[in-house]
Amino acid sequence: MSVTNREVILGIGGGIAAYKSADVLRRLQDHGYSVTVVPTPSSLNFVGAATWEALSHRAVTTQVWEKVEDVRHISLAKLANFFLIAPATADLIARLAAGRADDLLTNLVLASDAPKMIVPAMHPSMWLDAATVANVATLRSRGFHVMEPEVGRLTGTDVGQGRFPDTAAILSEFIDFTGARLDLAGKRIIVTAGGTREAIDPVRFIGNKSSGKQGVALAKAAASRGAKVELIAANIETDGLEGIEITHVVTADEMLEALKLSFGTCDILVMSAAVADAKPITSAQEKIKKAALTSIDLELNPDLLAVLLPLKSRQVVVGFAAETNDLIASATSKLEKKGLDLIYVNDVSGGAIFGSEETEGTILFRDGKQVGISRQTKDTLANLLLDYALKQLG
Ligand code: CTP
Repeated sequence: MSVTNREVILGIGGGIAAYKSADVLRRLQDHGYSVTVVPTPSSLNFVGAATWEALSHRAVTTQVWEKVEDVRHISLAKLANFFLIAPATADLIARLAAGRADDLLTNLVLASDAPKMIVPAMHPSMWLDAATVANVATLRSRGFHVMEPEVGRLTGTDVGQGRFPDTAAILSEFIDFTGARLDLAGKRIIVTAGGTREAIDPVRFIGNKSSGKQGVALAKAAASRGAKVELIAANIETDGLEGIEITHVVTADEMLEALKLSFGTCDILVMSAAVADAKPITSAQEKIKKAALTSIDLELNPDLLAVLLPLKSRQVVVGFAAETNDLIASATSKLEKKGLDLIYVNDVSGGAIFGSEETEGTILFRDGKQVGISRQTKDTLANLLLDYALKQLG
């Protein structure tokens, strides 16, 4: 699955309404969806692959026998977050209901768990035929969302239910169906994640226990809501984060340099990274022998948020605090000192939270408001913090 949650397979059945789906494709793109078009072979009689390739800027194939080396019925199935099959003919609906896999689209439908919406279009007699009625009921019982065709004039002079709905109606139903919250579209968000490391010598460093999970959850959540995200990643794995710009850093100084480059143009900064408070005054070029390791001279790292504070204009800045005692008092003083708009504080006494999939804590705001967060997944907290940050952005 794509992390941006907006990868759509647009399936095209072999009906005259296929030409109207060119507009559906354009509007999907306008709404921030990335679309791969998969026409059935018969639909190419109405609209050719070249049209779909030109509009989608992606390769278009109809059979599993094309681009075999890409194993597209599996790779596209893994990529897809949603399917929109529009138009769906009586034959395509019958093949889907029967679980056939005789072209690329029907293979994909079987191979993917992604939610699927179908927009039928056909002559009213075919729509009302007992076979189609039964097939539609089968698909609905399997969780397919089948849009009702419109009542009106068909391609010939006949009138009845079977018309392909307007693009706007399809888009509106699809957006509701996908639950797509693209409320961060057009916003630039920086998330720092992980823990910085300060070299003592070529093999040793001062570091901390931050796993980076909360930061990665924030970056993914922001991207899935349409934001342009830069993840400044300190010593964490960043595989599988397609669609997110990753800047790798090791030390606090490197993180500060990366932040200085991007902060001016961002809307929201979420500082979830654990920045090492101090670094060795000198980092040895060669490994220090253990006999000489009885003490290390340290100096404080810059406070990154404090350095950025004078550069702050419209940006909303979210901080994190991991505390073992006096949680609220410590976090409140950090909120003020660092010029934060909100801070999430969690109790890490006893090693809780680090590396865990879940979190528990309190969000504090500048006006003194506090929101308690009972045990939640880090994904849920990520979306909640983004909701509050967006509200502050206005
Ligand atoms: N932070 C920062 N620069 C630092 C240290 C921390 O910008 N040198 C940020 C963190 O990313 C976090 C917030 O400040 O969002 C609070 O981090 P924390 O380590 O709790 O704050 P410190 O100022 O280091 O306070 P303490 O004395 O409790 O370590």
